Amino acid sequence: MIKINRVDVSHLDKLIEIDHNNFNDPWSRDMFEKELLHPNSEYYAIFNDDDIIGFCGGWYIIDEYQINKIVIDKKHQNKKLGQMFLIYIMELYRLRNIKKATIEVRESNKIAFKVYLKAGFDVIGKRENYYQNNGETAYIMIREF
Ligand SMILES: CC(C)(COP(=O)(O)OP(=O)(O)OC[C@H]1O[C@@H](n2cnc3c(N)ncnc32)[C@H](O)[C@@H]1OP(=O)(O)O)[C@@H](O)C(=O)NCCC(=O)NCCS
Repeated sequence: MIKINRVDVSHLDKLIEIDHNNFNDPWSRDMFEKELLHPNSEYYAIFNDDDIIGFCGGWYIIDEYQINKIVIDKKHQNKKLGQMFLIYIMELYRLRNIKKATIEVRESNKIAFKVYLKAGFDVIGKRENYYQNNGETAYIMIREF
């Protein structure tokens, strides 16, 4: 059964495993631990029974949620789970009277871009030469509530 729950630093090992499986530039353990221990950090995982198969999270500051990472593990991708997960999370924040959510996406990441559009995000700007590993452009996307 698919379910969504908050996760924290006690899930660090599994989140790191998924991060490494799905990104060319994963966070270091130290960076990931600091991210989860940050006072404004709010992370969610999507579970298949008791297995974490993806996660999404970032910082909730006053009335804004800045998403720093979203991922669905490779073998579960392209089954609409990413869009369902993000839409669900947006609904959780709507209930908390959030004003806006923000996310950045690589210009080449057409799949993530599509998933963000489906969750109500719009492009509001771009930053050239943004990603350190290959100098790729980032689109800045916002979902207003
Ligand atoms: C981005 C990510 C979270 C999306 O999750 P997902 O469960 O695979 O996505 P979904 O199945 O919900 O939706 C994918 C959409 O992209 C479409 N798609 C698939 N391959 C595509 C391609 N090559 N080009 C364009 N669109 C594509 C699918 O058809 C689907 O759209 P649809 O609903 O209109 O059919 C997931 O692919 C992932 O974790 N990728 C690696 C990590 C990453 O890039 N994270 C985002 C940056 S933080």
